Amino acid sequence: MIHACKKSDLEAILALINTAAKSYRAFIPANQWKEPYMHEQELVREIAAGIKFSGFEQEGVLKGIMGVQKIEDVTLIRHAYVDPSIQRCGIGSALLSHCRTSINGSILIGTWDDATWAISFYEKHGFCKTSQSDTVRLLHSYWTVPETQIEASVVMANSEWFEINKS
Ligand SMILES: CC(C)(COP(=O)(O)OP(=O)(O)OC[C@H]1O[C@@H](n2cnc3c(N)ncnc32)[C@H](O)[C@@H]1OP(=O)(O)O)[C@@H](O)C(=O)NCCC(=O)NCCS
Repeated sequence: MIHACKKSDLEAILALINTAAKSYRAFIPANQWKEPYMHEQELVREIAAGIKFSGFEQEGVLKGIMGVQKIEDVTLIRHAYVDPSIQRCGIGSALLSHCRTSINGSILIGTWDDATWAISFYEKHGFCKTSQSDTVRLLHSYWTVPETQIEASVVMANSEWFEINKS
């Protein structure tokens, strides 16, 4: 049921992102909300920058997606979204486990600091929040995001990252 997404999945990926991202609206700073949350050109740019999406399909319909982007010495999990009608049914976990089989070493995830559900999801999978100063440094190093988004974000990391970066 989980497969590598193809070019032909682009529209379905976009629809899933823009439907599932609606849960952010009431939580993130108003100046960070946009509709649609992601434009097609942005998604095309993200894929061109090296994000590889895996998709969870049920009866031929994409129900969840998760992207993986290798950058230098770390791997980022990018754009994880599950159809709101079947969230909390294990699809995100299945996608994360699938993605992790192909990753060695440090994994980083950036999300909204107020997205408590996403933080809880990643904590259940062994990720922890990095400090505020590490979050800012990591977002500058591995992501291209505006300063206003950085202020409202948190970067989470796996135990391998914490092991490598312990002082
Ligand atoms: C975060 C997300 C990808 C997780 O996928 P999922 O299929 O719902 O997650 P799973 O069923 O595998 O795991 C469930 C766990 O995730 C967390 N979670 C997911 N949705 C939640 C919600 N609405 N409220 C609280 N916790 C939630 C909880 O820890 C939950 O465990 P619990 O049910 O025992 O409390 C999905 O909920 C989603 O698309 N959310 C909206 C977009 C988003 O926040 N994406 C993350 C971007 S980094």
